[in-house]
Amino acid sequence: MSSFVTLSSGQRMPMVGLGTWKSSPGQVKQAVLAALECGYRHIDCAAAYGNEQEVGEALALWIGPGKALRREEVFVTSKLWNTKHEPQDVEEACRTTLAHLGLSYVDLYLMHWPMAFQRGQELMPRRADGSIRYSDTHYRDTWRAMESLVDKGLVKAVGLSNFNARQTDDVISIARHKPVVNQVECHPYLSQTDLLSHCRSVGVSVTAYSPLGSGDRPWASPDQPCLLEDSRLAAISQRHQKTPAQIILRWHIQRGVACIPKSVTPSRIQQNLEVFDFSLSQEDMKLIESINCNERLIVPTVERDGKKVWRDAGHPHFPF
Ligand code: A2P
Repeated sequence: MSSFVTLSSGQRMPMVGLGTWKSSPGQVKQAVLAALECGYRHIDCAAAYGNEQEVGEALALWIGPGKALRREEVFVTSKLWNTKHEPQDVEEACRTTLAHLGLSYVDLYLMHWPMAFQRGQELMPRRADGSIRYSDTHYRDTWRAMESLVDKGLVKAVGLSNFNARQTDDVISIARHKPVVNQVECHPYLSQTDLLSHCRSVGVSVTAYSPLGSGDRPWASPDQPCLLEDSRLAAISQRHQKTPAQIILRWHIQRGVACIPKSVTPSRIQQNLEVFDFSLSQEDMKLIESINCNERLIVPTVERDGKKVWRDAGHPHFPF
């Protein structure tokens, strides 16, 4: 089982990267240092996580002349936030990310979501009633502006995040630089089988975010199941003498899905990379597949008229 996936651009992306969503400033530098120390060569970032400057401080200690690593040995991803979708805002947003990370290019730059928010400095611009202020900018126009970042050498490749199959095809149909990745929520409770096979059929690699079910998501509620404590995984875990987290990560890898587990705990960071020395049987894989319940954990829901609905689903490009 290779520890890399080859993207349609020819780039080799490590199958396991360090996730940095929810890693607070004050924690993320140590997390990135621990990851690089134990062999991670793939770091997943985003402007919206509010911690890229600190990620950059850690990268600066490891990468560059006289340091342990050459720039090309580490695969760094970042993402364009929804308030920067206006074509004239895209390059500046990317340059800000590069300045924060202390890099002259990122390996992969993703459009974080298909929907555009009102431009400006506010991360989540909302009206007084709490609803998001969306903008009409189409993701196709944003995509064209992202493609010029490749032309200018600011990013090696461009890709998508949170795009559904139809939207992915739509971007491919107008792309000069094809999206190499679609990064989506994926874990055993949301196995994304259809989207995976679609992306595969059109040459787009999939990266799983929240690969462990993101137990630390801010809106987690006690009535939602906790993936890492699922008893069906515990049995497989015992059989292989691996932790439930390692079992889940191995499941992703054997499905050909790259994953970016987030942790700020050095022992877990290390453990999450130790998934290339065992394999799951067909039976294990099927068992894990069978616990899928299409449970999306990442998008907050609210009750409206007695029904659970996505809180921010008021936009024609909302993907779900
Ligand atoms: P922490 O950062 O405190 O170590 P996801 O990647 O799906 O978003 O999951 C992140 C959550 O899973 C965090 O709460 C993180 O905790 C926890 N986590 C990461 N790796 C492991 C592991 N090997 N065992 C248990 N929990 C883990």
